[in-house]
Amino acid sequence: MSEELTLLPTSATKEEKYKTLLPQIEALISGEKDLIANLANISAALKQSFDFLWVGFYIVKENELVLGPFQGPIACTRIAFGKGVCGTAWKEKKTIIVEDVDKFPGHIACSSDSKSEIVVPVLKNEIVAFVLDLDSSKLAAFDKTDKFYLGKVCKLIQHP
Ligand code: SME
Repeated sequence: MSEELTLLPTSATKEEKYKTLLPQIEALISGEKDLIANLANISAALKQSFDFLWVGFYIVKENELVLGPFQGPIACTRIAFGKGVCGTAWKEKKTIIVEDVDKFPGHIACSSDSKSEIVVPVLKNEIVAFVLDLDSSKLAAFDKTDKFYLGKVCKLIQHP
């Protein structure tokens, strides 16, 4: 595919943007088998399409989440099992939407600008391999539409 994303105007709905983006992500990663390269491009494609503060992945390594490819401000490098939103999504094996990070007990504040967050765990053989984490500088930026489409994005990723 060409190296440029087709982006919808900011006036488009979230659903329209995801629907435009999904096939492009599929095309972008289908010819590449390297996981890190694909996670890097997925982070960039999501960041370019939406006004999220931070988009990236944490990868399970030696029983910790370790920072992977991302777009946005610098972030904490390691998160323990069950800690923060990411560690909780890992532990519970389910997507977590946080409307107000100040109200999530144990939230790990990598950036003081982050106000809401969604974390989608990605499983391989029933085991969490990595998580996709998105932060917004707006309260309650994420809802079931994000959960649905980000889940679809994660299903496109081929595990090595
Ligand atoms: N807020 C996350 C930490 C990662 S940063 O948002 C990039 C958490 O509570 O797990």
